[in-house]
Amino acid sequence: MSQTQRTVIVLAAGEGKRMKSATPKVLHPLLGRTLLGHVLQAAAAARAGHTIVVVGHKADQVRAHLDEVAPEATPVLQAQQNGTGHAVRIALEAAPDAAGTVVVLNGDVPLLRPETVEALVTAHEEAGSAGTVLAAEVDDPTGLGRVVRDAGGRLERIVEERDAEPEVRALREVNAGIYAFDAARLREALSKLSTENDQGEEYLTDVFGLLTSVGHQVGVFVAPDAEETLGCNDRAELAGLGARLRDRVNTGWMRSGVTMLDPATTWIDVTVTLERDAEIEPNCRLIGTTTVAAGAVIGPDTTLADTTVGEGAAVLRTHSIGAEIGPEATVGPFSYLRPGTKLGRKAKVGGFVETKNAELGDGAKVPHLTYVGDATIGAKANIGAGTIFANYDGVNKHHTTVGEAAFVGSDTVLIAPAEIGPGAYVAAGSAVSNVPAGSLGVTRAQQRNIEGWTERKRPGTVSADAARRAASEPAEADKEK
Ligand code: UD1
Ligand code: CA
Repeated sequence: MSQTQRTVIVLAAGEGKRMKSATPKVLHPLLGRTLLGHVLQAAAAARAGHTIVVVGHKADQVRAHLDEVAPEATPVLQAQQNGTGHAVRIALEAAPDAAGTVVVLNGDVPLLRPETVEALVTAHEEAGSAGTVLAAEVDDPTGLGRVVRDAGGRLERIVEERDAEPEVRALREVNAGIYAFDAARLREALSKLSTENDQGEEYLTDVFGLLTSVGHQVGVFVAPDAEETLGCNDRAELAGLGARLRDRVNTGWMRSGVTMLDPATTWIDVTVTLERDAEIEPNCRLIGTTTVAAGAVIGPDTTLADTTVGEGAAVLRTHSIGAEIGPEATVGPFSYLRPGTKLGRKAKVGGFVETKNAELGDGAKVPHLTYVGDATIGAKANIGAGTIFANYDGVNKHHTTVGEAAFVGSDTVLIAPAEIGPGAYVAAGSAVSNVPAGSLGVTRAQQRNIEGWTERKRPGTVSADAARRAASEPAEADKEK
């Protein structure tokens, strides 16, 4: 049986004034996708041959976003936002061949599930209706269109709150702003829309009254979970939607075997993947294309963006962007991994270490207080506390290679371009560029001690007192004897 031809229209031309933002409402992000991105993802369940997005306010920004996330969608410009009915009319004028089913979605309903879109479309097509609206029973219907049914429970019309008489306002069944229509019936009805309402706009919702008045059958599909139909009008609602989406995402991961100590402070983008027995400690954000393999422990207080974490790795109190963390590697606390960081198996990046474009071989260690920029560090090499890979000469960046099992002493500057050979040592406090394999590199100045300096130059200080006592009393070691 061949499927009915389907077209999806997403309404995304409005400004969303109450967001009070330079960014159009539909481009605000929520756990890894924009509001519009979430709606397109859900709409994909309609398996439409053609997707149209009506753009208007800051159309260039919305178009650029579509190029990125949904290049197959066609943006259609609604230069003036004369209402949802007007928006759909313009979209259909741009798609004269669209027949079969037209699915219309508001661009600001990010919690909508693909399953619900599929169920709405199936119910609509099976009933052979001219139009079907997704409705929800809510506690607080403020601001939303009300679904008005006749004595027999059939949909009669949809009335906007501002145009509603008190009995209608009292209804708690609302229009979610998501619909399926028969294309031909929709075109007919749209051509008859008036602007005689409180806002002087063409309301898409009036299509239902127009269809029933000429005897066409229309339907209501009640969303199984009213939460899915929540729109976003201001930042407070955006935060509320974010919290609900967070809970949904986290519950999904916990059900598939991920441990979370505090799901309320764990924020995982919808684009992230986690394996079984991964463990997420409190106050973590996992962003973008991040993946965490089995048995790895993340957090507390860690942000991972576009970061890959291998099996059994531990990442503690860390900020990471674009890094690859190998299996059983350990990172943190207070580490900053920047793009191009690649840690081998059992590699270690410790406290107050920053890495950028840096590859650490298996078992290599950078335990404390170090900057590693533009470097390749061999397996089992050890970089002492306070080492700086000086990669920048003020104009260009240069690379440093540290060979396998080399040992770089504390407080060393490796001045790039630099090459420390396999098994080489660099003495603590040195500044070097090249040390051949197996050699010791030292650039430390010769030490000289000026005897009695403190008592002469700092008389009367606690240091001078201590120096005097040390000179008069026998050393600890001598007392023992
Ligand atoms: C709309 C419905 C209302 C429903 C509510 C659900 C109408 C008349 N009312 O109201 O019954 O309960 O959604 O959230 O449809 N848009 C355009 N062009 C326009 C106007 C709007 O593209 O000219 C887009 C907006 O960007 C938005 C969507 O359509 O994504 C809904 O517009 P909005 O102004 O939020 O409609 P509501 O008044 O909330
Ligand atoms: Ca709205």
